[in-house]
Amino acid sequence: MTPIKDVIINKKTGINPIWIMRQAGRYLPEFREIRLKNSDFIKLCLNEKLSSEITLQPLKRFDLDAAIIFSDILMVPYGLNQKVEFKKNFGPFLGDINLNQISKLDEIDFVEKLYPVYKAIKLVSESQITKNKSIIGFVGAPWTMLVYMINKQSPKVKLKEDFFKDNFLINRILAILEKFLKVHIKNQIENGAEVIQIFDSWAGLLDEKDLPNYVYIPTLNLVEYVKSLNIPVICFPRGIKNYKNYCEVVKPDTICIDYEVDPIKIKKEINIPVQGGMDPKVLLTNKENLKKEAKKYLDIFKDHPYIFNLGHGVLPETNPNMMDYLVKTVKDY
Ligand code: CP3
Repeated sequence: MTPIKDVIINKKTGINPIWIMRQAGRYLPEFREIRLKNSDFIKLCLNEKLSSEITLQPLKRFDLDAAIIFSDILMVPYGLNQKVEFKKNFGPFLGDINLNQISKLDEIDFVEKLYPVYKAIKLVSESQITKNKSIIGFVGAPWTMLVYMINKQSPKVKLKEDFFKDNFLINRILAILEKFLKVHIKNQIENGAEVIQIFDSWAGLLDEKDLPNYVYIPTLNLVEYVKSLNIPVICFPRGIKNYKNYCEVVKPDTICIDYEVDPIKIKKEINIPVQGGMDPKVLLTNKENLKKEAKKYLDIFKDHPYIFNLGHGVLPETNPNMMDYLVKTVKDY
Protein backbone atom coordinates (compact mmCIF):
# COMPACT_ATOMS: atom_id res chain seq x y z
CA MET A 1 0.00 0.00 0.00
CA THR A 2 1.55 3.32 -1.06
CA PRO A 3 1.38 6.22 1.46
CA ILE A 4 -1.11 8.13 -0.69
CA LYS A 5 -3.46 5.15 -0.90
CA ASP A 6 -2.99 4.56 2.81
CA VAL A 7 -4.38 8.05 3.43
CA ILE A 8 -7.20 7.77 0.90
CA ILE A 9 -8.32 4.21 1.59
CA ASN A 10 -7.31 3.58 5.22
CA LYS A 11 -7.76 7.22 6.32
CA LYS A 12 -4.35 7.08 7.91
CA THR A 13 -3.26 10.28 9.67
CA GLY A 14 0.17 11.65 10.58
CA ILE A 15 2.03 10.39 7.49
CA ASN A 16 1.50 13.41 5.18
CA PRO A 17 2.49 12.06 1.77
CA ILE A 18 3.26 14.78 -0.76
CA TRP A 19 2.95 15.36 -4.50
CA ILE A 20 2.49 18.64 -6.33
CA MET A 21 0.09 19.59 -9.10
CA ARG A 22 2.13 20.41 -12.22
CA GLN A 23 5.20 18.88 -10.59
CA ALA A 24 6.40 17.84 -14.04
CA GLY A 25 6.81 21.09 -15.89
CA ARG A 26 8.21 24.47 -16.60
CA TYR A 27 9.89 25.30 -13.28
CA LEU A 28 12.41 22.51 -13.95
CA PRO A 29 15.40 23.35 -16.20
CA GLU A 30 15.57 19.73 -17.39
CA PHE A 31 11.96 20.04 -18.60
CA ARG A 32 12.64 23.36 -20.33
CA GLU A 33 15.58 21.80 -22.13
CA ILE A 34 13.36 19.08 -23.60
CA ARG A 35 10.55 21.57 -24.29
CA LEU A 36 12.91 23.87 -26.23
CA LYS A 37 13.63 21.07 -28.67
CA ASN A 38 9.97 20.07 -28.90
CA SER A 39 7.93 23.10 -29.87
CA ASP A 40 4.71 21.14 -30.45
CA PHE A 41 3.27 20.45 -26.97
CA ILE A 42 0.72 17.85 -28.15
CA LYS A 43 3.43 15.95 -30.01
CA LEU A 44 5.53 16.01 -26.87
CA CYS A 45 2.66 14.51 -24.86
CA LEU A 46 2.36 11.83 -27.55
CA ASN A 47 6.03 10.91 -27.38
CA GLU A 48 5.90 8.18 -24.77
CA LYS A 49 9.64 8.07 -24.28
CA LEU A 50 9.89 11.80 -23.55
CA SER A 51 6.61 12.12 -21.66
CA SER A 52 7.51 9.25 -19.34
CA GLU A 53 10.95 10.79 -18.85
CA ILE A 54 9.39 14.17 -17.97
CA THR A 55 6.98 12.43 -15.58
CA LEU A 56 9.94 10.99 -13.69
CA GLN A 57 12.03 14.19 -13.63
CA PRO A 58 10.61 15.61 -10.39
CA LEU A 59 10.88 12.21 -8.67
CA LYS A 60 14.59 12.08 -9.43
CA ARG A 61 15.08 15.38 -7.62
CA PHE A 62 12.57 15.25 -4.75
CA ASP A 63 11.18 12.59 -2.42
CA LEU A 64 7.63 12.85 -3.78
CA ASP A 65 5.00 10.15 -3.17
CA ALA A 66 3.38 10.19 -6.59
CA ALA A 67 4.10 10.46 -10.28
CA ILE A 68 1.48 12.39 -12.22
CA ILE A 69 1.62 11.52 -15.82
CA PHE A 70 2.94 14.24 -18.14
CA SER A 71 -0.02 14.90 -20.39
CA ASP A 72 -2.83 17.45 -20.45
CA ILE A 73 -6.58 17.58 -19.87
CA LEU A 74 -6.85 18.91 -23.44
CA MET A 75 -5.64 15.61 -24.90
CA VAL A 76 -9.30 14.54 -24.76
CA PRO A 77 -10.59 17.21 -27.19
CA TYR A 78 -7.54 16.41 -29.29
CA GLY A 79 -8.60 12.74 -29.25
CA LEU A 80 -12.08 13.89 -30.31
CA ASN A 81 -10.50 15.52 -33.38
CA GLN A 82 -10.92 19.10 -32.21
CA LYS A 83 -7.82 21.07 -33.11
CA VAL A 84 -5.73 21.91 -29.99
CA GLU A 85 -2.68 24.16 -30.04
CA PHE A 86 -0.62 25.75 -27.30
CA LYS A 87 0.48 29.22 -28.23
CA LYS A 88 3.45 30.77 -26.50
CA ASN A 89 2.44 33.31 -23.82
CA PHE A 90 -1.22 32.70 -24.61
CA GLY A 91 -2.08 29.16 -23.50
CA PRO A 92 -4.33 26.68 -25.21
CA PHE A 93 -6.11 27.55 -28.42
CA LEU A 94 -8.78 25.18 -29.76
CA GLY A 95 -10.40 24.90 -33.19
CA ASP A 96 -14.09 24.81 -34.10
CA ILE A 97 -16.21 21.84 -33.09
CA ASN A 98 -17.52 19.62 -35.84
CA LEU A 99 -20.45 18.07 -34.00
CA ASN A 100 -21.25 15.71 -36.83
CA GLN A 101 -17.75 14.31 -36.90
CA ILE A 102 -17.43 14.11 -33.10
CA SER A 103 -20.78 12.32 -32.82
CA LYS A 104 -19.59 9.58 -35.14
CA LEU A 105 -16.25 9.04 -33.45
CA ASP A 106 -15.41 5.51 -32.53
CA GLU A 107 -13.84 4.46 -29.23
CA ILE A 108 -11.13 2.57 -31.12
CA ASP A 109 -10.06 5.65 -33.08
CA PHE A 110 -9.96 7.75 -29.93
CA VAL A 111 -7.82 5.20 -28.08
CA GLU A 112 -5.53 4.81 -31.04
CA LYS A 113 -4.94 8.56 -31.14
CA LEU A 114 -4.11 8.72 -27.44
CA TYR A 115 -2.29 5.40 -27.28
CA PRO A 116 1.14 6.94 -26.51
CA VAL A 117 -0.32 8.50 -23.33
CA TYR A 118 -1.26 5.04 -22.09
CA LYS A 119 2.10 3.62 -23.11
CA ALA A 120 3.83 6.39 -21.15
CA ILE A 121 1.84 5.44 -18.05
CA LYS A 122 2.92 1.84 -18.52
CA LEU A 123 6.58 2.86 -18.81
CA VAL A 124 6.31 5.02 -15.69
CA SER A 125 4.63 2.29 -13.67
CA GLU A 126 7.32 -0.20 -14.68
CA SER A 127 10.15 2.10 -13.63
CA GLN A 128 12.09 1.39 -10.42
CA ILE A 129 11.74 5.07 -9.53
CA THR A 130 8.00 4.72 -8.88
CA LYS A 131 8.30 1.80 -6.48
CA ASN A 132 6.08 2.45 -3.44
CA LYS A 133 4.77 5.61 -5.12
CA SER A 134 1.32 6.19 -6.56
CA ILE A 135 0.83 6.66 -10.28
CA ILE A 136 -1.80 9.33 -10.73
CA GLY A 137 -3.87 9.43 -13.89
CA PHE A 138 -6.21 12.34 -14.53
CA VAL A 139 -8.96 13.89 -16.60
CA GLY A 140 -10.58 17.30 -16.72
CA ALA A 141 -14.08 17.33 -15.26
CA PRO A 142 -16.88 17.48 -17.86
CA TRP A 143 -17.61 21.14 -17.01
CA THR A 144 -13.99 22.28 -17.43
CA MET A 145 -13.72 20.32 -20.69
CA LEU A 146 -16.91 21.93 -21.93
CA VAL A 147 -15.50 25.36 -21.11
CA TYR A 148 -12.40 24.73 -23.22
CA MET A 149 -14.27 23.07 -26.08
CA ILE A 150 -16.86 25.85 -26.42
CA ASN A 151 -14.80 28.85 -25.33
CA LYS A 152 -11.79 27.54 -27.31
CA GLN A 153 -9.34 29.20 -24.94
CA SER A 154 -8.91 29.76 -21.20
CA PRO A 155 -11.78 31.94 -19.97
CA LYS A 156 -9.49 33.90 -17.63
CA VAL A 157 -12.02 35.60 -15.34
CA LYS A 158 -15.46 34.96 -16.79
CA LEU A 159 -17.40 33.20 -19.50
CA LYS A 160 -18.50 34.91 -22.70
CA GLU A 161 -22.07 36.27 -22.53
CA ASP A 162 -23.32 33.81 -25.13
CA PHE A 163 -21.63 30.72 -23.65
CA PHE A 164 -24.90 28.92 -22.91
CA LYS A 165 -26.78 30.04 -26.02
CA ASP A 166 -26.66 26.72 -27.90
CA ASN A 167 -28.28 24.34 -25.47
CA PHE A 168 -28.39 21.49 -27.97
CA LEU A 169 -24.65 21.72 -28.61
CA ILE A 170 -23.86 21.86 -24.89
CA ASN A 171 -25.92 18.78 -24.09
CA ARG A 172 -24.47 16.82 -27.00
CA ILE A 173 -20.92 17.66 -25.99
CA LEU A 174 -21.59 16.74 -22.36
CA ALA A 175 -22.93 13.36 -23.44
CA ILE A 176 -19.93 12.74 -25.71
CA LEU A 177 -17.55 13.84 -22.97
CA GLU A 178 -19.15 11.47 -20.50
CA LYS A 179 -18.44 8.56 -22.82
CA PHE A 180 -14.88 9.47 -23.78
CA LEU A 181 -13.70 10.69 -20.39
CA LYS A 182 -14.63 7.22 -19.13
CA VAL A 183 -12.72 5.60 -21.98
CA HIS A 184 -9.70 7.76 -21.15
CA ILE A 185 -9.92 6.90 -17.45
CA LYS A 186 -10.27 3.18 -18.14
CA ASN A 187 -7.25 3.08 -20.43
CA GLN A 188 -5.09 4.98 -17.94
CA ILE A 189 -6.04 2.51 -15.22
CA GLU A 190 -5.44 -0.50 -17.45
CA ASN A 191 -1.94 0.78 -18.07
CA GLY A 192 -0.98 1.43 -14.46
CA ALA A 193 -2.76 4.50 -13.05
CA GLU A 194 -3.63 3.69 -9.42
CA VAL A 195 -5.41 6.89 -8.45
CA ILE A 196 -7.45 9.24 -10.65
CA GLN A 197 -7.66 12.99 -10.11
CA ILE A 198 -10.48 14.96 -11.72
CA PHE A 199 -9.49 18.58 -12.37
CA ASP A 200 -12.40 21.02 -12.43
CA SER A 201 -10.31 24.13 -12.87
CA TRP A 202 -13.24 26.32 -13.90
CA ALA A 203 -15.88 25.14 -11.39
CA GLY A 204 -15.60 28.57 -9.75
CA LEU A 205 -16.99 30.35 -12.83
CA LEU A 206 -20.51 29.05 -12.27
CA ASP A 207 -23.32 30.51 -10.18
CA GLU A 208 -24.40 28.29 -7.30
CA LYS A 209 -27.67 27.51 -9.11
CA ASP A 210 -25.87 26.03 -12.12
CA LEU A 211 -23.58 23.74 -10.14
CA PRO A 212 -25.92 20.70 -10.01
CA ASN A 213 -26.39 20.62 -13.78
CA TYR A 214 -22.86 21.23 -14.95
CA VAL A 215 -20.63 20.22 -12.05
CA TYR A 216 -22.30 17.92 -9.52
CA ILE A 217 -24.22 15.51 -11.75
CA PRO A 218 -21.65 15.03 -14.55
CA THR A 219 -18.79 14.69 -12.03
CA LEU A 220 -20.71 12.30 -9.78
CA ASN A 221 -21.20 10.13 -12.83
CA LEU A 222 -17.43 9.95 -13.42
CA VAL A 223 -16.69 9.47 -9.72
CA GLU A 224 -19.05 6.49 -9.60
CA TYR A 225 -17.40 5.08 -12.69
CA VAL A 226 -13.89 5.30 -11.19
CA LYS A 227 -15.13 3.76 -7.94
CA SER A 228 -16.72 0.90 -9.91
CA LEU A 229 -13.23 0.09 -11.19
CA ASN A 230 -11.97 -0.10 -7.58
CA ILE A 231 -9.70 2.89 -7.97
CA PRO A 232 -9.65 5.88 -5.59
CA VAL A 233 -10.68 9.24 -7.00
CA ILE A 234 -9.60 12.74 -5.95
CA CYS A 235 -11.65 15.75 -7.06
CA PHE A 236 -10.37 19.30 -7.41
CA PRO A 237 -13.26 21.73 -7.97
CA ARG A 238 -11.13 24.87 -7.99
CA GLY A 239 -12.77 28.08 -6.84
CA ILE A 240 -15.96 26.45 -5.67
CA LYS A 241 -17.29 28.26 -2.62
CA ASN A 242 -19.08 25.42 -0.88
CA TYR A 243 -16.78 22.41 -0.63
CA LYS A 244 -19.05 20.78 1.93
CA ASN A 245 -21.99 20.63 -0.47
CA TYR A 246 -19.74 19.39 -3.24
CA CYS A 247 -18.43 16.52 -1.10
CA GLU A 248 -21.90 15.53 0.04
CA VAL A 249 -23.21 15.28 -3.51
CA VAL A 250 -20.19 14.17 -5.58
CA LYS A 251 -18.69 11.92 -2.88
CA PRO A 252 -15.06 11.79 -4.02
CA ASP A 253 -12.68 9.59 -2.00
CA THR A 254 -10.50 12.64 -1.36
CA ILE A 255 -11.13 16.35 -1.88
CA CYS A 256 -8.38 18.63 -3.17
CA ILE A 257 -8.83 22.22 -1.97
CA ASP A 258 -7.71 25.47 -3.56
CA TYR A 259 -5.77 28.25 -1.83
CA GLU A 260 -8.70 30.60 -1.43
CA VAL A 261 -10.61 28.38 0.95
CA ASP A 262 -10.07 28.46 4.72
CA PRO A 263 -8.44 25.14 5.73
CA ILE A 264 -9.78 25.41 9.30
CA LYS A 265 -13.33 25.58 7.98
CA ILE A 266 -12.64 22.59 5.70
CA LYS A 267 -11.23 20.56 8.56
CA LYS A 268 -14.36 21.25 10.62
CA GLU A 269 -16.90 20.62 7.87
CA ILE A 270 -15.46 17.75 5.86
CA ASN A 271 -14.79 14.24 7.07
CA ILE A 272 -13.17 12.66 4.02
CA PRO A 273 -9.39 12.85 3.36
CA VAL A 274 -8.18 16.27 2.21
CA GLN A 275 -5.41 17.19 -0.22
CA GLY A 276 -3.65 20.46 -1.01
CA GLY A 277 -4.45 24.05 -0.14
CA MET A 278 -1.22 26.01 0.19
CA ASP A 279 -0.90 28.99 -2.15
CA PRO A 280 1.69 28.24 -4.90
CA LYS A 281 2.92 31.84 -4.54
CA VAL A 282 4.36 30.92 -1.13
CA LEU A 283 7.12 29.10 -3.04
CA LEU A 284 8.12 32.46 -4.54
CA THR A 285 8.84 34.02 -1.12
CA ASN A 286 11.56 32.73 1.24
CA LYS A 287 12.34 29.52 3.11
CA GLU A 288 11.24 30.82 6.49
CA ASN A 289 7.84 31.82 5.19
CA LEU A 290 7.53 28.61 3.20
CA LYS A 291 8.16 26.54 6.31
CA LYS A 292 5.67 28.58 8.29
CA GLU A 293 2.92 28.21 5.68
CA ALA A 294 3.53 24.50 5.09
CA LYS A 295 3.41 23.90 8.84
CA LYS A 296 0.16 25.79 9.05
CA TYR A 297 -1.51 23.19 6.82
CA LEU A 298 0.25 20.28 8.50
CA ASP A 299 -0.83 21.51 11.94
CA ILE A 300 -4.43 22.04 10.92
CA PHE A 301 -4.69 18.58 9.36
CA LYS A 302 -2.60 16.84 12.02
CA ASP A 303 -5.42 14.48 13.03
CA HIS A 304 -7.10 14.36 9.65
CA PRO A 305 -6.12 12.12 6.71
CA TYR A 306 -4.12 14.59 4.63
CA ILE A 307 -2.07 14.57 1.42
CA PHE A 308 0.19 17.59 1.10
CA ASN A 309 -0.13 19.49 -2.20
CA LEU A 310 -0.63 23.08 -3.32
CA GLY A 311 -3.92 24.90 -3.89
CA HIS A 312 -3.21 25.01 -7.65
CA GLY A 313 -0.31 24.08 -9.94
CA VAL A 314 3.26 25.02 -9.11
CA LEU A 315 4.17 28.30 -10.87
CA PRO A 316 6.73 28.25 -13.71
CA GLU A 317 8.87 30.89 -11.97
CA THR A 318 9.35 28.67 -8.88
CA ASN A 319 12.94 27.97 -7.88
CA PRO A 320 13.47 24.17 -7.71
CA ASN A 321 15.43 24.71 -4.46
CA MET A 322 12.24 25.99 -2.85
CA MET A 323 10.41 22.88 -3.99
CA ASP A 324 13.20 20.79 -2.49
CA TYR A 325 12.88 22.69 0.77
CA LEU A 326 9.11 22.23 0.80
CA VAL A 327 9.32 18.46 0.27
CA LYS A 328 11.93 18.16 3.03
CA THR A 329 9.86 20.30 5.40
CA VAL A 330 6.84 18.07 4.89
CA LYS A 331 8.87 14.86 5.22
CA ASP A 332 10.60 16.09 8.40
CA TYR A 333 7.38 17.21 10.05
O1 CP3 B 1 0.72 18.02 -13.10
C1 CP3 B 1 1.59 17.61 -13.90
O2 CP3 B 1 2.79 17.80 -13.75
C2 CP3 B 1 1.13 16.74 -15.02
C3 CP3 B 1 0.88 17.37 -16.26
C4 CP3 B 1 -0.28 18.34 -16.44
C5 CP3 B 1 -0.20 19.38 -17.38
N1 CP3 B 1 -1.42 19.98 -17.45
C6 CP3 B 1 1.00 19.72 -18.17
C7 CP3 B 1 1.12 21.02 -18.84
C8 CP3 B 1 -1.55 18.37 -15.89
C9 CP3 B 1 -2.15 17.51 -14.79
C10 CP3 B 1 -2.27 19.40 -16.54
C11 CP3 B 1 -3.70 19.71 -16.27
C12 CP3 B 1 -4.31 20.89 -16.87
N2 CP3 B 1 -4.12 21.38 -18.15
C13 CP3 B 1 -5.33 21.67 -16.26
C14 CP3 B 1 -5.93 21.41 -14.91
C15 CP3 B 1 -5.11 21.95 -13.78
C16 CP3 B 1 -5.02 23.45 -13.74
O3 CP3 B 1 -3.91 23.96 -13.89
O4 CP3 B 1 -6.05 24.10 -13.51
C17 CP3 B 1 -5.67 22.68 -17.17
C18 CP3 B 1 -6.70 23.78 -16.95
C19 CP3 B 1 -4.91 22.48 -18.36
C20 CP3 B 1 -4.96 23.26 -19.61
C21 CP3 B 1 -3.66 23.90 -19.92
N3 CP3 B 1 -2.53 23.23 -20.35
C22 CP3 B 1 -3.33 25.28 -19.88
C23 CP3 B 1 -4.28 26.38 -19.43
C24 CP3 B 1 -1.99 25.40 -20.28
C25 CP3 B 1 -1.19 26.66 -20.53
C26 CP3 B 1 -0.86 27.44 -19.37
C27 CP3 B 1 -0.22 26.67 -18.25
O5 CP3 B 1 -0.80 26.66 -17.14
O6 CP3 B 1 0.87 26.14 -18.43
C28 CP3 B 1 -1.50 24.11 -20.53
C29 CP3 B 1 -0.13 23.75 -20.96
C30 CP3 B 1 0.64 22.81 -20.09
N4 CP3 B 1 0.14 21.67 -19.55
C31 CP3 B 1 2.00 22.94 -19.73
C32 CP3 B 1 2.31 21.80 -18.94
C33 CP3 B 1 3.63 21.46 -18.37
C34 CP3 B 1 2.94 24.04 -20.16
C35 CP3 B 1 3.40 23.75 -21.52
C36 CP3 B 1 4.54 24.62 -21.92
O7 CP3 B 1 5.68 24.22 -21.68
O8 CP3 B 1 4.27 25.66 -22.51
